[in-house]
Amino acid sequence: MSTASIAYTNQREPELLGQTVVVIGGSAGIGLETARRARAEGAKVILTARNPERLKQAATEVGALSTAAFDASDPVAVERFFRELPMIDHVMVTAGRPYYGRLADMDFAKVRSLIGEHLLVALYVARNAANKVRPGGTLIFMGGTGGRRPAIGMSIAGAGTAALPSLTANLALELAPVRVNLIAAGFVDTPLSADLLGDQLETRRKQLRATLPIRRVVGPAEVAALAVHIMSNTALTGATYDIDGGQQFVAG
Ligand SMILES: NC(=O)c1ccc[n+]([C@@H]2O[C@H](COP(=O)([O-])OP(=O)(O)OC[C@H]3O[C@@H](n4cnc5c(N)ncnc54)[C@H](OP(=O)(O)O)[C@@H]3O)[C@@H](O)[C@H]2O)c1
Repeated sequence: MSTASIAYTNQREPELLGQTVVVIGGSAGIGLETARRARAEGAKVILTARNPERLKQAATEVGALSTAAFDASDPVAVERFFRELPMIDHVMVTAGRPYYGRLADMDFAKVRSLIGEHLLVALYVARNAANKVRPGGTLIFMGGTGGRRPAIGMSIAGAGTAALPSLTANLALELAPVRVNLIAAGFVDTPLSADLLGDQLETRRKQLRATLPIRRVVGPAEVAALAVHIMSNTALTGATYDIDGGQQFVAG
C-alpha cells in the first residue's frame, strides 16, 4: 500500500457533508456550539435568535449561510421563517429557558407566558419544519434531567421535563420519515447558566466538580457533539438522550 493510500484510509468523511442545519437559538451556548460543530462536520448552518447583534456576531464567527432574528415563541414568526426556507436536513431547537418558582410566589401572568414554552416552541417548529426537512433528517429538542427530581420550586420545570420525552416519541411517529429526538442535559456551562446563577455560578461549578461522577462540569461543546451524532445516525428517532455527567444520580 502506498503512503498516499494509507493516508486516505485514515481519513474519515465529515459526518454532515453537504447537509444544512438550522439552529433555532443559535447565537449562544449549546446552539452556537452545535452550529460550530456542524460546520466542522461539513454542514451549512442557518442561525436564528432574538437579539440581531449577537446573532450577526455568531453568524460571522461560524460562517453561517444566513440568519433570521425572531422570537421562537411567536407562532406567526416561526411559520414565516420556515415558509421562506429552502429544503434543509436538520433543526436543532435551543430557544427557551426554564421557569423556577414556588407556588406561593408565582406570578400567574408570567407563568402563563412561560409555562410550556419548550413544548410550544417544539410544536411550532415541528409543524412548520415537517415538510422542509429531508427524509432521514432530524428535529432535536432540548430538555433536562434536573427536573426529574421533585424539589421546592421545580413544579413547572418538572412538568415540562416529564412532558418532552412523550412529545418527542409521539412526534417521531407522526412526522416519520423525519426523525425527532430529545437531548436531556443537566447543568451545562453556558450564558444561560451564568444568568440563572449570577454570583453563585462559581460555587455551583465547584460543587458539581466535587459531586458529579465525571468530576467536572459539562460544557456546551459536549452537548453539541451529541447533537451532531443524532443528526448523522439515522437509526435514532423518538428517544431521549441524557447528557449530565451523572448529575441525576447524585443529590443537588
Ligand atoms: N444550560 C443548561 O444548564 C441547560 C440544561 C438543560 C437544558 N437546557 C436548555 O437548553 C437550551 C439551550 O440552553 P443554553 O444554556 O445554551 O442557553 P443560552 O446560552 O441562553 O442560549 C440560548 C440561545 O437561544 C436564543 N433564544 C432564547 N430564547 C429564544 C427565543 N424565545 N426565540 C429565539 N431564540 C431564543 C438565545 O438568543 P437570544 O436571547 O438573542 O434570543 C441564544 O442564542 C434551553 O432551552 C435550555 O432551557 C439548558
